This record gives sequence, C-alpha cells and structure tokens, in this order.
Amino acid sequence: MITLKRAILSDWPEIAKIEKSSNSNTYSARVLEKEIKDYIKKDFVFLIKNKTVTAGLASFKLLKKKTAHCNGLVIYPKFRRKGFGVKAMSLLLKRMNKYPRVELVVHPHNTSAISLYFSLGFIIEGWRDNYFGDGEPRLMMIKKK
Ligand SMILES: CC(C)(COP(=O)(O)OP(=O)(O)OC[C@H]1O[C@@H](n2cnc3c(N)ncnc32)[C@H](O)[C@@H]1OP(=O)(O)O)[C@@H](O)C(=O)NCCC(=O)NCCS
Repeated sequence: MITLKRAILSDWPEIAKIEKSSNSNTYSARVLEKEIKDYIKKDFVFLIKNKTVTAGLASFKLLKKKTAHCNGLVIYPKFRRKGFGVKAMSLLLKRMNKYPRVELVVHPHNTSAISLYFSLGFIIEGWRDNYFGDGEPRLMMIKKK
C-alpha cells in the first residue's frame, strides 16, 4: 500500500539519496544540503512509502495561493514500473486539487513522466525555453479540471 508521509527536516539525507538516484539530463536533482532543507521547510514535500519502505518522493509548492505547482516526483530506480509513481501522483493530486490551477513542468524527452501525467488527466499547455536557466526546455502541463 502506497502512502505519503510529510517530510521533516531530519529526512534530508533520504531526500538527498532519492534525488541523487535520479539525476539525469531530463531531471535536474537537488544536491546541496541547504537547498534540500529549504525545500523541506518551504514546500510540501512527502516521502512515498510502500508500507514502511521509502520508494521515493513527491512534492508541490503554492504559487500566489491559487496555483499548486508539483515540483517533485521521483521513484528510486529499483522500484520503478510497479505503479508506485502513478499512485503517489494521484495521492498528491488529492492534496493539490482544491487549488484552481494545478501545474508542473517536465523535460520534453522525459517520456515516462509525460505518459504518467497524461494518464492522470494532465494536458500540455505549452513549451517553455530554458525554463531552469540550464539551456534546456520544459513542457508546462496542467491538470484538466
Ligand atoms: C517518472 C517516474 C516517477 C515514474 O515512476 P514509476 O513508479 O516507474 O511509474 P509507474 O510504474 O507508476 O508507471 C505509470 C505509468 O507511467 C508510464 N511510464 C512509467 N515508466 C515508463 C517508462 N520507462 N517508459 C514508458 N512509460 C512509462 C506508463 O504509462 C506507466 O503505466 P504502465 O506501467 O501501465 O504502462 C520515474 O520514472 C522516475 O522517478 N523518474 C526520474 C525522475 C523524474 O523524471 N521525475 C519526473 C519529473 S517531472
């Protein structure tokens, strides 16, 4: 059974481990201790639990109180393709759905994440050049209400 557990500051090494396991050219991981601690303090960060085992993380932040922006969904490589990602994202959506706009950005080559988001009712809103300032584009996706 998959559940979401709100991360606390002392979870930062686990968050760092999850992020590190997924760094790639389509996902830029958070690496610095300060960056991760600020992330836990400011955003809604959850550990994805399969019973007692941590399978990954999911997170969102609020933008101007009206927009929930999903800024994290990572499953440890060894736990992928078991349905954990889609289950965790649907649990996160329950927490985000009360906001008028639910959005996220994803690298256009990240086909696994894009098909997961399509399966949950997200649509592509548009293309954003150099979204994180690293020269790489992102697709803005929004949840169809
Ligand atoms: C994207 C990610 C979270 C998916 O997690 P997951 O637990 O493997 O996904 P699920 O098993 O729940 O798969 C759900 C659906 O997503 C799609 N999907 C997932 N992995 C896929 C892959 N490698 N190739 C194609 N489709 C894939 C499929 O539609 C799948 O449904 P199916 O298994 O019935 O075909 C995971 O691959 C990951 O952590 N990637 C690195 C971090 C990242 O890029 N996160 C997204 C940032 S925007």
